[in-house]
Amino acid sequence: MSKELGNTENPIENVQSHDWNKERLEQLKNLMPDLFTNDGQLNINELKKVVDPSLVTETERYEFRWFGKSNAKREAFTPTDATLVYDENRSVNPTESENIIIEGENLAVLKLLSNSYREQVKCIYIDPPYNTGKDFVYSDKFNQDKKEYWEDTEVTENGFKIDTNTETDGRFHSNWLNMMYSRLLIARQLLQENGIIAIHIDEHEEHHLRKLCEEVFGEENFLGIVVWDKLNPKGDARAISYQHESIVLFAKNSEFLLSNTELRREKPNAQAILRKAEILFKKINKTDLETVNEEFKEWIKCQEGFSGGEKAYSKIDENGKVYRGVSMAWPNKKKAPDEYLIPLIHPITKKECPIPERGWRNPPNTMKELLEKDLILFGEDERKQPERKYLLEENIFENIPSILEFAGSDDAFFKKLELEFDNPKPFKFCKDFLKPLISTEDIVLDFFAGSGTAGHAITELNQEDGGNRKYILVQLPEATDETSEAYKAGYKKISDITIERNKRVVEKIIKEKKTAQPDLFDAEVNAQEQLKGLGFKVFKLQKSNFPRVEYAPDPNKTHEENIEALKKYIRDKEAQLISAFNKEELITEILLKNGFKLNYTLTKQEQFTKNEILFATDGDKEALVCLDGDLVEETIEYFKKNTEQKLIVLERALDTTKKWNLKHYMKDNFKAF
Ligand SMILES: C[S@@+](CC[C@H](N)C(=O)[O-])C[C@H]1O[C@@H](n2cnc3c(N)ncnc32)[C@H](O)[C@@H]1O
Repeated sequence: MSKELGNTENPIENVQSHDWNKERLEQLKNLMPDLFTNDGQLNINELKKVVDPSLVTETERYEFRWFGKSNAKREAFTPTDATLVYDENRSVNPTESENIIIEGENLAVLKLLSNSYREQVKCIYIDPPYNTGKDFVYSDKFNQDKKEYWEDTEVTENGFKIDTNTETDGRFHSNWLNMMYSRLLIARQLLQENGIIAIHIDEHEEHHLRKLCEEVFGEENFLGIVVWDKLNPKGDARAISYQHESIVLFAKNSEFLLSNTELRREKPNAQAILRKAEILFKKINKTDLETVNEEFKEWIKCQEGFSGGEKAYSKIDENGKVYRGVSMAWPNKKKAPDEYLIPLIHPITKKECPIPERGWRNPPNTMKELLEKDLILFGEDERKQPERKYLLEENIFENIPSILEFAGSDDAFFKKLELEFDNPKPFKFCKDFLKPLISTEDIVLDFFAGSGTAGHAITELNQEDGGNRKYILVQLPEATDETSEAYKAGYKKISDITIERNKRVVEKIIKEKKTAQPDLFDAEVNAQEQLKGLGFKVFKLQKSNFPRVEYAPDPNKTHEENIEALKKYIRDKEAQLISAFNKEELITEILLKNGFKLNYTLTKQEQFTKNEILFATDGDKEALVCLDGDLVEETIEYFKKNTEQKLIVLERALDTTKKWNLKHYMKDNFKAF
């Protein structure tokens, strides 16, 4: 086929007749690009307005619209009939930690968590697909009613194949926005009132993401955008060569957050500076302060990676404290009131020192106080304008800057673990970034977990300071590339990598602890203490154990026949639950439905000999649960007298009398499923 026939290289297009309409639309787009949507579709209303604006009646207002927006919103709030089941075999030290890894599609998982984890999560930290044209956007056409995610067990065993969102798709941006919109809407409900969401993104969708978040979280809750400078421009750029990514930060309620917390981080090199000063100051018996200071100044000057602000702390005082001088000039353009212009007297020459042009920054009282506390630095004589003395130990914290520099990758680390994953975030960057956003007891959620970097970062943070931060990671069982090392090593799904990586992180830490102190894990109490936080429970998304009502009466049958058919339907479904259910699977579902978090623990209650009764608690909620097919009289008698605890049983374990008794005596503390 000759190329001259068309300017396209697609052989199928070449055998078809030329698409004149397409060409005409392209010409129109070249002339009037404003008539087309961001997705490249002709906006008929805009065209009509060119012909005659009166043809279009619309209220003009500032809003962010795209194709499928209302549907995505509906999708977010449609209940799911999925559930989570506990996967003990893939869990690691499950009783020692409250971390959770969930293998599953994140929209359904978020819906399930939205009951138990409502307002429980301090930080949502995600790194979604960036919509580069090559990456994956999980299409909600897979939602449960259309393509059964869990029915096809082969899919979840071998992993989902990815769906690429290509730029030629007329709804390129809309597809991505819809995917993000429904997830953010539901995820917002999980955030505590002082919660924060931080989303990694690059130039492909940053502009849309910020607007989308303004819509979901409110413009007033925008905290800022942090630019992560990777210090290395992309080599394949044709226009601007990007060397940064962004992290968009929103608060659930910024006013509440900022009135209760300071979003500040420790100066990254403050401890190193203090340590060096301490070592040098110890020499003071052998040498003088001036020599110590010269050596200190030289050391600070040579430190690569120290910020200008850190390098300014280049002096040690006679008490061994590190300090810097800061101007005390009035910061505004307008001159300060007269009392801000009183000169300071030099302590040695007793002469007046120069005053800043527009006056001092502080009123006379504060200046007096600073003088008394020896926090004003004078020059050798009165010619130098005095400065305020800032001690590093009192100024360890600083606002999070809008640019964070971090180069490097975790390639070597992955190689050592014999794992492979495309572009994982460097865990050290994640660790340093997350630290100031959360406190030591908080829960962090990452529902685009990939290789599970967020889990790794949290584990390491806890190791550093003995904290008890918890993570929840959600990762789709997306199929790994069959040619990849990970696939060859048996990791068929990305979720396998998420689990394996975090398992190896835990194993590595335990090994290091044992090497450093071989008897550390000897006594059981010690071992438990040492293992605290080093592990996770794995859960899998699965179709609910409870039958859905799919029965519809048949109009061709009589009323009696339909009633009989309904009774049979109910018997069959109940039988299905009886034969198909597995106690371990059902218990998670029942507890989730009752608002329990996934860190629940179960303890068998030995005083019950005829029924198996488990005590379930997640730290906040408590209940006694029985999944036996029959609740015997003895147990019923017990609960008629002991009514103060919540009891959850299976509907089919009770006949009408037993049910009536429990309801009558226990009231709302009794629940049957
Ligand atoms: C950019 S990667 C995250 C990388 C991660 N930050 C790391 O350091 O390894 C995004 C991940 O989200 C997953 N993902 C995409 N759509 C998803 C969905 N609907 N549910 C769960 N995971 C999904 C992809 O499989 C991919 O592993």
